[in-house]
Amino acid sequence: MAVRSARIIATGSAVPDKVLSNADLQRIVDTTDQWIVEHTGIHERRICTDGEATSDLAVRAAQQTLARSGVSPEDIDLVILATVTPDYAFPASACLVQDRIGATNAGGFDLEAGCTGFVYALCVGAAFISAEMYNHVMIIGADTLSKVTDWTDRATCVLFGDAAGAVLLGPCERGSGVLSYVLESVGALGHILDIPVGGGRCPLTPENIGEGKHLIQMDGHEVFKQAVRRIPQVSQKAIRKAGLKREDISYLILHQANQRITESAMKRFGLSKEKVLSNVDRYGNTSNGTIPLLLDQANQEGKFKPGDIVTLVGFGSGFTDGAVVIRWG
Ligand SMILES: CC(C)(COP(=O)(O)OP(=O)(O)OC[C@H]1O[C@@H](n2cnc3c(N)ncnc32)[C@H](O)[C@@H]1OP(=O)(O)O)[C@@H](O)C(=O)NCCC(=O)NCCS
Repeated sequence: MAVRSARIIATGSAVPDKVLSNADLQRIVDTTDQWIVEHTGIHERRICTDGEATSDLAVRAAQQTLARSGVSPEDIDLVILATVTPDYAFPASACLVQDRIGATNAGGFDLEAGCTGFVYALCVGAAFISAEMYNHVMIIGADTLSKVTDWTDRATCVLFGDAAGAVLLGPCERGSGVLSYVLESVGALGHILDIPVGGGRCPLTPENIGEGKHLIQMDGHEVFKQAVRRIPQVSQKAIRKAGLKREDISYLILHQANQRITESAMKRFGLSKEKVLSNVDRYGNTSNGTIPLLLDQANQEGKFKPGDIVTLVGFGSGFTDGAVVIRWG
C-alpha cells in the first residue's frame, strides 16, 4: 500500500492569440452560427498560426505553472506530455519541452490516449510519486488539432481548437491529492474517431492525401453515443473507488467536446449543473488541452477550496475514457 499520494502544486495554461469565430467559419464552410451554437455550444475557438506548434503552447503552459509553483526547473524529475498532435513523429515533444523549460534533470515522454491523454498522464505521474520514484512531475496536455482538421468538412471543422494546460505534481500524505483513478479503453471502437493514414499501417500517398485521409475522420453520432454512455459509468467507478459518493463531488471537469455531450452525460450521472464546469463556448474541443485549461482557469478564479473533491473525466479516440478523483489542497 502506497504511503504517500500526489497533489497538484500549481496549474498553468496557454492558448494562441488568434480567435476563429463562428462568423469566420461561415466564410469557410456551409454553416451558420445558429447551427454551431445549437448543436455544440461553441461560439469561438483559438487557432495557431502556421509557425506555432504543440510544443510552443506546451512550453508556455509549463513555464506559467513553474512560475506559480515556486519549484525550480532543475527539481523536475519527469515531463509527460499528453498529445495527439506532437511536433514530430519523433523525437517526443515532451523532450523539446523538457529542454526549453530548463528541466535539465528530468526524463520526458509523450503519452497518446486520444483526448483522454491528460487524465492518463496525470495518473501515470501520480503513480510515480506514490511509488516514491519521483518528487516533481510536470504533466502537460497540449494539442493543435487545427493542423489535422479537414477545413472542408463542416461536420468536424466547427468543433476543434488549439490549447495547452499543465499541472505540476508533488508528494502529499495519503488521503489528500489524487484519491483514485480509473482508466479504460475499448480498442474495437478505434475506427469511430481516427486519422487513418500517415502511420506504419497506411503510409502517406498523394492519393490518400488527396482524399483527406491524413486528417480527422469521425462518426459523430457514434462518438456522441459512446461518450454519453461511458462518462457516467467511469465517473461512478472512480468516485466509488475513492470511497466517496456522487454527492461528495465539489466540481467535475469533463473533457470539453460539446456542451450537449456534457449536459446529457451529467444528467445521466445525476450531478447538479453548478458543479459541472465548462468553457467549450470560448475554446471548442482542444483535445488534451481541454481539461488542464479549464482546471487552470477555475483554479485562477479561486473556485477550489482546500478539501474540495475535484473530479476530472476524459473520453476520446481509442475509444478511451478515464476519471481521476482529487482532494484539493
Ligand atoms: C458532430 C455533431 C455536433 C453533429 O451534431 P448532430 O446533431 O448529430 O448533427 P447530424 O450529424 O445529425 O447532422 C444534422 C444535419 O446537420 C448538417 N450539418 C453537419 N454539420 C453542420 C454544420 N457545421 N453546419 C450546418 N449543418 C451541419 C448535416 O449535414 C445534417 O444535415 P442533413 O440532415 O441534411 O443530412 C455531434 O454528432 C457530435 O457532437 N458528436 C460528437 C463529436 C465529438 O465530440 N468528437 C470529439 C470527441 S473527443
